[in-house]
Amino acid sequence: MERTNYCGLINSSYIGKKITAFGWVHSRRDHGGVVFIDLRDREGVLQVVFQPENKEVFSTAEKLRSEFVLKVSGTVRKRPEGTVNPNLFSGEVEVVAEELVIINQAPGLPFEISDYTETSEEMRLKYRYLDLRRPAVQKNFILRHKMLQKIRQHLSDTGFLEIETPFLTKSTPEGARDFLVPSRMNQGNYFALPQSPQLFKQILMVSGFDKYFQIVRCFRDEDLRADRQPEFTQVDLEMSFVDENDVMGVIEGLLAVVFKEALGKEIKTPFLRMPYSEAMLRFGSDKPDTRFALEISDLTQELKNCGFKVFNSVASSGGVIRAICAPYGDKFSRSEIEDLTQFVAQYGAKGLAWMKVTDKGPESNIVKFFSADELAAIQNKLGSKPGDLLLFLADSADVAAQGLGALRLKIAKQLGLIPKDKFEFLWVVDFPLLEWDNEENRWNAMHHPFTSPKLEDIPLLDSVSDRAAGSRIRARAYDIILNGTELGGGSIRIHREEVQEKIFSTLNIGKEDAREKFGFLLDALTYGAPPHGGIALGFDRFCALLLGEESIREVIAFPKTQKATCPLSGAPGQVSPRQLRELGIKTGK
Ligand code: AMO
Ligand code: AMP
Repeated sequence: MERTNYCGLINSSYIGKKITAFGWVHSRRDHGGVVFIDLRDREGVLQVVFQPENKEVFSTAEKLRSEFVLKVSGTVRKRPEGTVNPNLFSGEVEVVAEELVIINQAPGLPFEISDYTETSEEMRLKYRYLDLRRPAVQKNFILRHKMLQKIRQHLSDTGFLEIETPFLTKSTPEGARDFLVPSRMNQGNYFALPQSPQLFKQILMVSGFDKYFQIVRCFRDEDLRADRQPEFTQVDLEMSFVDENDVMGVIEGLLAVVFKEALGKEIKTPFLRMPYSEAMLRFGSDKPDTRFALEISDLTQELKNCGFKVFNSVASSGGVIRAICAPYGDKFSRSEIEDLTQFVAQYGAKGLAWMKVTDKGPESNIVKFFSADELAAIQNKLGSKPGDLLLFLADSADVAAQGLGALRLKIAKQLGLIPKDKFEFLWVVDFPLLEWDNEENRWNAMHHPFTSPKLEDIPLLDSVSDRAAGSRIRARAYDIILNGTELGGGSIRIHREEVQEKIFSTLNIGKEDAREKFGFLLDALTYGAPPHGGIALGFDRFCALLLGEESIREVIAFPKTQKATCPLSGAPGQVSPRQLRELGIKTGK
């Protein structure tokens, strides 16, 4: 339709030229007989002026309303002195309209297409086509596109083959609930949508493809949060004849390229690596946010014989005493400290002890229970200074880590200690292979059951009836963390069938059960499987983090609500009795 230019790409280099642009009426202003509109397209807005001298065009312009679709032709000119908008690419110019066609009209809108509205998410998603017109929202998808292209290009350039794997498949073991699809041709049988391509990508290694990647949708029926959607995108990799360092190196190289080429930012590689045990001790989390300090210190040795009964008895029954030292202690009133106590109670903590450090030393209701040496040791270890607030938790190592880990984040947010515009990457390594499931009284795989144990820890698999021994077995697994979010995770896999069988028996997955679920992978492993490993990055999380968005819904074109519904399409919806009959499904109704 003869467009000469995008609205948002016209600047002073076009002055005097005649252009034709298409777009939507972003806003309209009447100024003493002259009509101005901002015409918007994907690239930005352009000011268009309609002058009364051109009678026909002017009278059409008077009918314009928000979001009408227009074709405008005219000549670009410099804006008059004092009306330049330095925030716009086209801010120095405007177009004097010579022709105007209203291509389509729009009724009154459910909300404004501006970047600063407070529309509810339900409304935004119901009218997602309007919501997606917002320049700030479009910017997210343009960056997402750019990142996808860079990732594809880089992986292809470095020898990875993009291979698709099925969506109609069998259950995969990522630990969430499956979405099931009934089979019409095989009534009573169901496909599961893949939680990840895990099994197929391992099989591609057995087939000799050596380096695989896929930018792939994964499906998990789990409770949704800001960083979780029922369908989401992974950048999924698998490589043969590699160890942990190779996989981590590939990801570091990939992230450096994406940062540089999509964002124009340099990042420093290699990233810091931290064993899981250290992350739990210092940050109380397996995904530490290392943009700020506020680290946790362990004071069990220093305080195990102290006169404060709570600490003393926790330490003597095998628990730990840990603390954090928060700056700006005087910002916390007694009742706010009480709120913090309630907060850690969610993590199972039975209390939260505190001291305020003053010029005269620590002060609180419990200071009297500690000797001068103990108080000195506390201050020494925490590096505290007058003005600080010390917060102590005595409990099992798990509860202390979780409680203080969460408290650390809460206080950092409250005090504004988290720097914006900082990207802190970190590898967490040496994860435990197994985690104990208290409810079911059995071991679970912490990553997934195809993760290789560290070779030197394999003998410990014979003594997992001892819980302590079981929890000491380390996995060849690694997670990549960005600003306290788990961006991705992977592992070196088991490539020998006998080790795989041993893991299944440790996990109490019976032989038949294993065959039924993963028999095809187990068989493949017997036919000359190469050593292999890989990783998957959560691509939506990655985009959201780079864009500073709180929720991955901001970077997914048509996301689901927190209740796993799509207000736009109305999914999930009812189906006809005939469809159900064809599938051989009877419902209670
Ligand atoms: P994992 O289950 O850790 O590993 O998933 C990898 C990454 O995917 C992202 N992610 C999600 N993003 C949005 N919504 C969700 N519901 C969701 N669930 C996970 C996270 C996570 O780090 N097959 C293995 C990888 C491997 O071993 O190679 C896997 O899927 O960012
Ligand atoms: P109490 O002796 O129960 O009155 O507790 C004195 C202080 O110790 C209160 O501030 C409690 O919150 C705190 N406290 C109680 N249990 C613990 C615990 N397990 N860890 C840390 N502080 C605790």
